[in-house]
Amino acid sequence: MPDCRSIQVNTTPAYGVTIAPGLLAACGPRLRALMPPCHMAVITDSAVAPLYLDTVQRSLSTAGFAVSPYVFPAGEGSKTLSTLANILEFLAERRLTRTDCVVALGGGVTGDMAGFAAAVYLRGIRYVQLPTTLLAAVDSSVGGKTAIDLAAGKNLAGAFLQPAAVLCDTDCLATLPKDVFADGAAEAIKTGVLCDESLFSLFEDGTLSAEPAEVIARCVGYKAGVVERDEKERGERKLLNLGHTVGHAIEKCSGYAVPHGHAVAAGLAVIARAAEALGWAEEPIAARITACLAQNGLPTGADYAPEALAEAASADKKRAGGDITLVVPRRIGLCELKKIPVPELLNVIRAGLEG
Ligand code: GLY
Repeated sequence: MPDCRSIQVNTTPAYGVTIAPGLLAACGPRLRALMPPCHMAVITDSAVAPLYLDTVQRSLSTAGFAVSPYVFPAGEGSKTLSTLANILEFLAERRLTRTDCVVALGGGVTGDMAGFAAAVYLRGIRYVQLPTTLLAAVDSSVGGKTAIDLAAGKNLAGAFLQPAAVLCDTDCLATLPKDVFADGAAEAIKTGVLCDESLFSLFEDGTLSAEPAEVIARCVGYKAGVVERDEKERGERKLLNLGHTVGHAIEKCSGYAVPHGHAVAAGLAVIARAAEALGWAEEPIAARITACLAQNGLPTGADYAPEALAEAASADKKRAGGDITLVVPRRIGLCELKKIPVPELLNVIRAGLEG
């Protein structure tokens, strides 16, 4: 197939991430090559269903799968215990068994929810990811993190379960609203700051001077290596949370009105300014990072009091006892983990908001 890129993620079990145009219409035969005919529960949201559900259902049915679709209201506000319970009841009512499969069709919220449902239904059944947003393609569909939000904070209940396959149809990206594309750009810029200055620089003039497929392949390639070495986030994988401590706090303070990628962008800007102000960075980085985020329509700060952000961040799951591990940029392309006592978080956030 022309324009097709494949990346293997060597976890247990291993799986492939395929990046190509036309994959939603071809998902049936692609998945049939990986598993015998079974019952597929396609979990999607009210924004994605009108666009792609018919295509996916038709392709799966033609390939010999029985299909049961489940549509929940779009938005982070749906990533709750009650939506999860509804999905689990649906899987049970449709009598899916351990030889069946959940399909996550959509963006990050859908992947997290459907993946978590697959992780706990019958103590775990197979699932596949069909990401339809840039954010899901470059980050959340790969690596097996699944979760829902609790009142106390973002992603506080979840499980690690690697998907059986990720099929990333790049045709979906062409019609994404600007803001939704920007959410994914934030995670890709994050990856550039983590490991690859040349990836970062593709975003610097705000026009994305590369094919999205190239960006997805580079982000997924990096993430696959990290996840293979540290699947359960005992160490190195924590680096992927760059910008997320403050980002999750912004999401929570906004009542999840600020989308995840926008919040991560603001969180990245805050930690970059803090790293520079506190002498943790090797060289000036903040102006370049904030300019790049702004060029891509992303925020570089937040209108919340540092105390409110620090309070929200202290409930983050990256806290361990009295400490919290921050991901700190040293330069563009290199970051490190820094454990600080939770009370110091307020000074870091202050430095990052003021910087
Ligand atoms: N999104 C960060 C991770 O998958 O570890």
